[in-house]
Amino acid sequence: MTRRGFPASEDGRLGAAERAAYARDGYLLLEGFVSSAECVRLMARAAEIVAAFTPDEATVFSTTDHRHAAERYFLESGDKVRCFLEEEAVDGEGRLVLDKRRAVNKIGHALHDLDSVFSSFSRAPRLAALAESLGYSEPLLLQSMYIFKQPGIGGEVSCHQDASFLYSEPLSVTGLWFALEEASLENGCLEVLPGGHLAGLGRRFRRGPDGRFDFEAVGQAPSDEDPSASTALLPLEVPRGSLVVLNGLLPHRSRANRSLRSRQAYTLHLLEAAAHYPSDNWLQREGRLPLRGFR
Ligand code: FE2
Repeated sequence: MTRRGFPASEDGRLGAAERAAYARDGYLLLEGFVSSAECVRLMARAAEIVAAFTPDEATVFSTTDHRHAAERYFLESGDKVRCFLEEEAVDGEGRLVLDKRRAVNKIGHALHDLDSVFSSFSRAPRLAALAESLGYSEPLLLQSMYIFKQPGIGGEVSCHQDASFLYSEPLSVTGLWFALEEASLENGCLEVLPGGHLAGLGRRFRRGPDGRFDFEAVGQAPSDEDPSASTALLPLEVPRGSLVVLNGLLPHRSRANRSLRSRQAYTLHLLEAAAHYPSDNWLQREGRLPLRGFR
């Protein structure tokens, strides 16, 4: 199987061929969506955020509270701009073993609302037009992540469906994945299961009655241990500036980056405003920073 890409349109709208491919495959590769200059601008802004980050707050390993603190640091990041560290960048005592510029795994999860550079990128009229082409009537910008996939230590992301984490009734999440650098198998590109969105949702990550988060099976979960899924996974080796649109039900993963090159990407997730967004999803805005659309 080979990857099929389309050239990005000027105004962001999708033609009939693109919409048909997306409906069939559950993903859509649009090459040349972001200019190189804009990729460089976003990368520079992410570097500034990391420069201003004090690693201590996320890396206090010295107490037994660590797990709890790390969980809270993550669970409370839905309306914040926070840096998360690569596992391999921290030793057993919680100390950074690398320069922080090489240690941050990602920045999440409200860059699109709180950072002017990422907000203007995320609210470009072309993206609003794209969302309309995807069938949204009133899209909300739910979550953003800046992913570094650091050289040598960029961690793997196992096979999952985004709708497990960003669940709504009806399901309405779509991921927009922007390659700010070239992505290849060597540096941990996206791998997708074409057509896998048609099998429905496998599991939900939700808060239980005890307040703890866990997965709840609701169907057949995608897994990279499943040999049939593994061999069917299609690597999306893409040039800088590509946009990959991911149906929230599409199983995808990325392997660890053991190469000398980073694989930086920005992701944005959309939600339909009319869909019910449950209070037991991990990402909550709690009224302090209401979700907004493209305006
Ligand atoms: Fe994902």
